[in-house]
Amino acid sequence: MYIIKDLYLHSIYYRKNNKKTMDFSLTEEHIMIRDAARDFAQTELLPGVIERDNTQTFPKELVRKMGDLGFMGIMVDPKYGGSGMDAISYVLIMEELSKIDASASVMVSVNNSLVCYGLEAFGTEEQKQKYLTKVATGEQIGAFCLSEPEAGSDATSQKTTAIDKGDHYVINGTKNWITNGGRADVYLVIAQTDKEKGHKGINAFIVEKGTPGFDIGPKEDKLGIRGSDTHTLQFNDVKVPKENRIGEDGFGFKFAMKTLSGGRIGIASQALGIAAGAYELALKYSKERKAFGTEICNHQAIAFKLADMHTEIEAARMLVMKAAWDKDQGNNYDMSSAMAKLYASKVAMEQTVEAVQIHGGNGFVKEYHVERLMRDAKITQIYEGTSEIQKIVISRGVIRD
Ligand code: CAA
Repeated sequence: MYIIKDLYLHSIYYRKNNKKTMDFSLTEEHIMIRDAARDFAQTELLPGVIERDNTQTFPKELVRKMGDLGFMGIMVDPKYGGSGMDAISYVLIMEELSKIDASASVMVSVNNSLVCYGLEAFGTEEQKQKYLTKVATGEQIGAFCLSEPEAGSDATSQKTTAIDKGDHYVINGTKNWITNGGRADVYLVIAQTDKEKGHKGINAFIVEKGTPGFDIGPKEDKLGIRGSDTHTLQFNDVKVPKENRIGEDGFGFKFAMKTLSGGRIGIASQALGIAAGAYELALKYSKERKAFGTEICNHQAIAFKLADMHTEIEAARMLVMKAAWDKDQGNNYDMSSAMAKLYASKVAMEQTVEAVQIHGGNGFVKEYHVERLMRDAKITQIYEGTSEIQKIVISRGVIRD
């Protein structure tokens, strides 16, 4: 009793001082942003989504429209061409786009969390003026190049080298699994400048498309997110001016880690959207499809699946929102973003399988969309740190704290 009274007095104190205690509601602004993204996804992304998945294409026109709506630089300061929104808005937009087209949302996620954030948080004023102002508006697209054939999860083992030549660096090596690899204009490339120094001998560079020696390999033929282009990139004696290095000498690995922490909020919200999109389709289908004389949602076998799906997705949403809230509050979000990605991607994989199951044979054909969502879900457990990497981040945090 005593403790409850204390807590109550605390809550009065907080309310009097206009401090929010616990509030799960969205602001009116958030609802408007979410509805705008939902409307765009329904009217612009839905019509060609099966075709784009079949042909592994994504028209420039649609990217431009996402830029016009402010989706390519959601959290960037308006003085650099961004929308100046918070991380909660980012999650809401990502969820709505991902419900319909996870290929569109990964372009948005990489451009926002890895490229825009990387440039805004750690770039020089000149780098921001030259590059951020273009990628934040969607006039140009960005790519983040960390993974290599022999350095995926083990990101400190970079084989790509950048040799200091005084006023410029010379980059040699191969990057793979690069999202936006073919379509990007601005590439943030992580490379080793001094092998002896381990992770402290790694740097990040801005490389422009068309720089001599920088070649883009063929597009990967993928299981999911087929509308987004993924390429291997080749660097053969690529000259990059010194002013294109991001941060102090040796900052590249920390740059990648800090940037990926925010990227994981983007991918977690993508996973959430994929799961929620599949659930909404399954719920609708179960209310229309009849078997044994009634709509299938009236059979407990289906009703319990819907109950589990709803619960799991809501739990994932809480973790994703918590990570975004941490970012907005200026809290450290390394662990909360890892937990959000780990859990939301698991929910996406499991619940898209259930959505296909609820659809029966119809779930196995493209027209019903759930098979695509199931294929799209898998990558969320792999990119921007596999689920196993998220467990490394979380377990280290748990043990350290
Ligand atoms: N913020 C700041 N610094 C960090 C950090 C963070 N989040 N995480 C680690 N560091 C620092 C450490 O403090 C340490 O610095 P000090 O020595 O000065 O203390 C340094 O970085 C090295 O850290 P670790 O010893 O923890 O490094 P590790 O070799 O054990 O690796 C890891 C840690 C978490 C496993 C990391 O390698 C990792 O995240 N791997 C996965 C990489 C990844 O996500 N790849 C995805 C590719 S990008 C992609 O998919 C983009 C796309 O196109 C969709």
